[in-house]
Parts: sequence; structure tokens; C-alpha cells
Amino acid sequence: MADETPDNIAGSPEPEGTPAKPAPKPKAADGPVGPAVKAAPARERGANVAIKDVPPKPEKKDDGLRRTTEAEGDQNIWRYSRRGFLEKLGWLSIFSFLGVMLVGTLRFMFPRVLFEPSPIFKAGFPEEYLPGTVSTKWMRDFRVWIIRDEGRIYALSGICTHLGCTPRWLEKEDKFKCPCHGSGFYRSGINFEGPAPRALERLKVALAEDRQIIVDKSIKFLYESGGWDNPQSYLKV
Ligand code: FES
Repeated sequence: MADETPDNIAGSPEPEGTPAKPAPKPKAADGPVGPAVKAAPARERGANVAIKDVPPKPEKKDDGLRRTTEAEGDQNIWRYSRRGFLEKLGWLSIFSFLGVMLVGTLRFMFPRVLFEPSPIFKAGFPEEYLPGTVSTKWMRDFRVWIIRDEGRIYALSGICTHLGCTPRWLEKEDKFKCPCHGSGFYRSGINFEGPAPRALERLKVALAEDRQIIVDKSIKFLYESGGWDNPQSYLKV
């Protein structure tokens, strides 16, 4: 005879105070159990495990500095900022100015001096000049004629008193002729034709200890001012 107690009636509620039944074991058709579950990776077992393994990232603090991004860094071809560039440009200008001043000061200490030959030279012995002759021996180097005439030797400057050309001695015509504008001078040096305003200049002459004639081109005697009467303007022979 079938047990018709309330426990055997399917779907009937259990009475209060009845102990709970153990969970039913899975059937073979549901797949393997036990080891397969344990071998699953931790992330498949739940997100809570992964979160516990990763250390928390430190929070970024705003330190006030501007950081360039990669895109900005690629475009930034300048090494310095604009302020740094202008600062270095200012220093460069100052040092350039000081350098130029220093070079100018040093250059001032070594002035460009034109070293001209001495205006004084020896013109040989008086006996080398024959009476009544005009010597052109020193014209090339000193632009000076040595003339012996009437018991005197004097030195005549070879510079035309018009515009400074060099006259030529024309022995046949017994005169000096300037090729520039045609001025003519006697052998004494007095002008007589052309635009030259005055006579040629005579130079200081003297006898050295060795009895050679010394000519000093730096001391000149003008006919118009009576300089030719000065004893330093001629040598008595
Ligand atoms: S420079 Fe000699 S005549 Fe003019």
C-alpha cells in the first residue's frame, strides 16, 4: 500500500521545522565537475581577484609646469624659449660692441704711419759739377737739380709752382719746361712763361765733414721773399 504521507506528495510544501535537504548532485550529462573548475584563470573566476592584484596608480599632482606633448615636441625646433633667445641675443650684442671697441682701441695704439725717405741726402763733391751746367743726376730719386753757375752751387726743386708737375730740363733751349701747362723757367729758376705764378724753389745746401754737398729738401727758399740771398741757399765755389 502506497505511503500517502504528506512527505511523499510531490510539490507539497514542507512543514516548518523540517531540516533542509542537501543539494542534488549534478548529473553526468551536465559535463565534468571538480578539477576543470579549479583550472580556470583567475580573470574568468571573477573581476574581484584581478582588481586585488593590480597596485593602484599614484595620483598626478598639478605642479604648475607646462609639459609639451609629443606633437608639440616634434614641432618645437628651437632649443630655447623666446625669452631665453632674446636674453642671449642681448648678451651677444653687448659683447660684440665691447669687442669692436677693444679692437678700435688696440688699432689706435698702432697708427698707420707713412714712412717717407729722409729729405736730406748727400749729392757728392762740388768738383763733380762743372761750371755752367745743370745736373739731372738726382731728379729721379729726389726731384732736385744741382746747378753750378757764377761761382755758386744751388739746389733747385723739381716741382712746378703751378700745379706740381715735374718740369724737364731742355739744355738746347737753356730752360726748364713743364709738360703739363707749358710753364717755362730759366736755369736760375725764375719763371718767364706759362701759368706758373712764381719761380721754382731753392733748397738748403751745406758741406758735410767729408766735404760732400748735403741737400735738405725740408728747408726751402723763395725768390719772391728774398730767400735766395740767404747763405744757406747756395754754396760758394
Ligand atoms: S703744373 Fe706746371 S705748368 Fe701747370
